[in-house]
Parts: sequence; C-alpha cells; structure tokens
Amino acid sequence: MRILVTGGAGFIGSEFVRSLLASRDATTRGPRVTVLDVLTYSGVAANLDPVAMQPGYSFVHGDICDADLVDQVMPGHDAVVHFAAESHVDRSIVGAGPFAVTNVLGTQVLLEAARRHRIDRFVHVSTDEVYGSIARGSWAEDSPVDPNSPYAASKAGSDLMVLAYHRTHGMDTVVTRCSNNYGPYQFPEKLIPLFTTNLLDGRRVPLYGDGRNVREWLHVSDHCRGIGLVLRRGRAGQVYHIGGGAELTNNELTGLLLEATGTNWELVDRVADRKGHDLRYSLDTTRIAKELGYRPQIDFRQGLAATIAWYRANRAWWEPLKAKAAMLP
Ligand SMILES: NC(=O)c1ccc[n+]([C@@H]2O[C@H](COP(=O)([O-])OP(=O)(O)OC[C@H]3O[C@@H](n4cnc5c(N)ncnc54)[C@H](O)[C@@H]3O)[C@@H](O)[C@H]2O)c1
Repeated sequence: MRILVTGGAGFIGSEFVRSLLASRDATTRGPRVTVLDVLTYSGVAANLDPVAMQPGYSFVHGDICDADLVDQVMPGHDAVVHFAAESHVDRSIVGAGPFAVTNVLGTQVLLEAARRHRIDRFVHVSTDEVYGSIARGSWAEDSPVDPNSPYAASKAGSDLMVLAYHRTHGMDTVVTRCSNNYGPYQFPEKLIPLFTTNLLDGRRVPLYGDGRNVREWLHVSDHCRGIGLVLRRGRAGQVYHIGGGAELTNNELTGLLLEATGTNWELVDRVADRKGHDLRYSLDTTRIAKELGYRPQIDFRQGLAATIAWYRANRAWWEPLKAKAAMLP
C-alpha cells in the first residue's frame, strides 16, 4: 500500500509515519509513505529523521492548498491520511484566516485531487472539538457539530466536506475524531509539553480560568493505532471516535505535572479564561470498539510519566522550538 500522509512532520502525523515504517525493512514489502508537509512553525523535519533512510519513504515540501502540486503528488497512491492543519485553538482566536484556508480549503483541494486520481481511501483526522462542549454524558458519531472556536469550526467544515465527497461522488472517505493527544514530539505550545518544559526549567505556567475544564487524554500512539485500524477496515462515509478514556480537569493534570517535576503550585499563574473555552469534551467510542476492536492500551499515568521523561531527555528538540515560538506573532 502506498500512502500519502499530509502534515506528517507534525506531532501526530510523524508518530503515524514512524510507527507505519517501523515494521518495514529492506527485505519486507511494507507500506510506502509519501509525506506532504509545508513545515509551518509546528512542522519539524527532524521528527521524521528516524525514518528518513527507510526504503519506501519520501518527503515532499509543499502546501496542501497548492492544487497544482497536490495534483502532481497524488497519483500512484492508494490512500490519503490527512493530518495537515492549523491545530492550535489559541492561535485561531488571535487570527482565524490560516485556519479557514488550510483546514477547509486545503482539505477540499486534497479531496478534489483524490477524486480525480481515483484514490481508494481518504482518511481525515479530526477532533472532538467539533461538537462544542458537553456537561454530562458523551457524544455519539451522529451528534450534531456545534463548534465554539474558529479552530473547531474550521475542522467541522473540513469534516463536512469530507463526508460530502462521499455522498456526492461516492468516494471512499472516512473521518476520525479523537480526544486530546499527548506524547513525545508535541510542539511546546500545548498544555502538557508547555507546562512540562516550563516546569523542568523552574519557570511559571499559565492555567486558564478556574482550571475546572475537563479533557479526555489519549496517548498519540494509541491514536495512531486507531487511525491504522480505520484506514484498513473502517466503513466508507462513517465517522469513528478514537478516545483515550482518561478524563481529568486541568487542575488535576497540572497537579500531576507539578508532582512529576518536583515543583509546586507557587509556579502556577491563574490567567483569564480562554474566550469561548469549552468546559468538557467526551467521546462515546462504542463504534470503533465493536467494529474494529479498538481500545486504548496506554495507561494515562504511565504514558504521562514516559512523556515527561522524553521531554527531560530531549531538550535539544524542544529548546529551539520554544525560542522559535517566542518569536511568533
Ligand atoms: N493534537 C491534538 O490533541 C489533536 C486532537 C484532535 C485532532 N487533532 C488533529 O490532528 C491533526 C494533527 O494535529 P497535530 O497535533 O499533529 O498538529 P501539528 O500542528 O503538530 O502538525 C500539523 C502539521 O501540518 C503541517 N501543515 C500545516 N499547514 C499545512 C499546509 N497548508 N500544507 C501542508 N502541511 C501543513 C505542519 O507543518 C505540521 O507538520 C490535525 O488535523 C488536528 O486538527 C489533533
């Protein structure tokens, strides 16, 4: 199988590519992977260093919104797994333009090329944030989208476009929606890597509002295993939830990070709440469990400890990224 992975230099996309190619060596007939990535501030070419010399791997530096380029890259692939996106909610509050362009228009450009070149399967990686916020219970895959942030609205728009290409053109498209990911190689602007790297340096951390917002945490390797199952056996035109099962308030998570880094609440600044901040997300994952046998395997506390250990051991990876992030508008 030859797979085009968009956004493969980012946090989740690079884990997907590394895990996909890990099983392949020069003597086996494993999957072949083309990464298409424009390397925005959050795309890190070095995330793919572990697979750079693998047979069957190639990298194309380019934009998913560039229809001519996408049209050249697409032929010869059996499937697209689409991760490329502007992914940080806070940045979408400051400026939503790039979110609308990359997440909605970029997805449509890819769909159109996939349709023209008769690609067998298109897997679109999305988020639980498209549903808005839920005080109790969990969303099913047919719950209505009701996004609050421009990021979530742009992802909802892209999801609907992907499903419309199935209904209109009969294309084999599938959408996955996951909960909050954590793990190694996550750009140090999101809560876990930002707090971890600040605390490792004895620096202060900003906690939004009263810290009671609840998130469900999913280890990135569990997420990528779920995407792999959907790629191989998911039903066309469906949405699949991929959840991690570990619900924590931001206060509880911050407490765990303080404990693991040997610091305390004196380093926590309570800052004004994020605009439109969703209180809670929660996914019902019955469908993927029943149809594809998916269950998260990584215990949250163990996964978190391993993640903190990774950031402790990989300063050379995150220090330049934090310096770069500090220069961004
Ligand atoms: N991180 C999470 O917790 C989470 C949760 C739910 C869903 N998702 C979704 O998963 C996907 C990957 O998220 P991530 O956390 O790895 O994001 P990320 O920001 O780490 O990576 C995004 C990647 O996309 C690339 N990219 C951005 N715009 C591009 C363009 N126009 N053309 C080509 N490449 C482009 C970037 O260079 C980067 O490599 C996104 O679609 C995101 O919406 C993420």
